[in-house]
Amino acid sequence: MKTHAQTSACGMSRRGFLLAGIQGLAAAALLHSRWIEPFWPEISHRKVLLPKPFSRPLTIAHISDLHAFGSMPLWYLENSFQLLAQETPDLICLTGDYISSTLPSAQEAARYSRLLRILSDAAPCAACLGNHDGGQWASRFGAGDSWEEAAGILSDANIRCLVNETTMYQCRGQQVVVAGTADLWSAPVAFDETNQNLLHTAAPLIMLAHNPDTKDAIANLPWDIMLSGHTHGGQLIYPFSNKTPFSVVRDRRFMAGLHRWNDRWLHVSRGLGTWRGVRINCPPEMTLLSLESCN
Ligand SMILES: [Fe+2]
Repeated sequence: MKTHAQTSACGMSRRGFLLAGIQGLAAAALLHSRWIEPFWPEISHRKVLLPKPFSRPLTIAHISDLHAFGSMPLWYLENSFQLLAQETPDLICLTGDYISSTLPSAQEAARYSRLLRILSDAAPCAACLGNHDGGQWASRFGAGDSWEEAAGILSDANIRCLVNETTMYQCRGQQVVVAGTADLWSAPVAFDETNQNLLHTAAPLIMLAHNPDTKDAIANLPWDIMLSGHTHGGQLIYPFSNKTPFSVVRDRRFMAGLHRWNDRWLHVSRGLGTWRGVRINCPPEMTLLSLESCN
């Protein structure tokens, strides 16, 4: 006669066996989301056609949301920088959240700058700041209302930090203009007249703005492509749905990837680091954008 709780040769009922299997799967998923996926960055490649003259395609590396101290260990960032440097980009753009609102000691900051030099030794580096790097938003989480600390880490690493500023690079004979905004949640986004004049150029113009929602505030400026982060790609993505429970932007069309917006380009990085150290179905990334002329 059969009973509901059939027992296997090892003495475990079918229900017990199923429960153990489910618990094992849940434990494996937890392990993966906390200790494997957040430390397994993808290097993605994307081609961007711009209506600007190029003597040859320009390779721009885009990384964002490093979140050192509090979320991501420096060994992980160091390994990632070395991976990216091997790709020999022409220019490296960083779009904010270098720290996780926890201010590092002077010693930790100096070590972080030394590691960031792996990037600036590989190519010229330009950066904007994020909401975790100091300012109105970060001051509520212990990072202080000044972004001096984060900007100091960057400048010690020979990375140009742009806060409502514009600069120009010659990358192997190709001129490119890079501008960076203040973080949308931290300070006013406003270029003064001098910096705004520099934006009117025949060269390709790359805008760095941590939060992709910044696009609306600078819609009147003539940038060709805006590079952003902030969303972490959603960080937790439900399987088969591409949906996330997190909403850190108003315009949820642009959570990750390369998009057209108002006849120009918007690239949103899923970020290299994470907030609180967990990722599900949304691996960290570093992107190589190949900028080419569409003419
Ligand atoms: Fe972030």
